[in-house]
Amino acid sequence: DRKGEKLLAAHLERDAAPLLAYPIDPAGVIRDGSRLNQVLVLRLETAQLTPKVAARATDGIVAYSAVCTHTGCAISGWREEELRLVCPCHGSEFDVLDGAKALNGPASKPLAMLPLSVEAGELRVARGFTRRVGFKPQ
Ligand code: FES
Repeated sequence: DRKGEKLLAAHLERDAAPLLAYPIDPAGVIRDGSRLNQVLVLRLETAQLTPKVAARATDGIVAYSAVCTHTGCAISGWREEELRLVCPCHGSEFDVLDGAKALNGPASKPLAMLPLSVEAGELRVARGFTRRVGFKPQ
């Protein structure tokens, strides 16, 4: 319902459900032609992040691929009590404090992370995804 609106750091509440977003390329084009570009953006407590995740976050804000590493479903669930993303297809859960490590269900690989920075309140992609997005067909 906020389609087309630029996502700013100020829009994100700590430990709230993730917001689904697409990145914009340097020419200003929204990269929404592939769902592989969809990311889930959250603000977390920086002190709770593992050092590796904290190095890829900015002000506690992290972004993970919204494509499940099991068989590629769109991640849409959120368990607020445990701060886990949940895949609706087969129930895999991903720990957002620890690099979206797979915890339950059939997925064994973490979600790809998109390192971020903030400039003048705007979120920026700092580097490419940390790993292949989605799953590897067998
Ligand atoms: Fe996500 Fe199977 S596709 S758990």
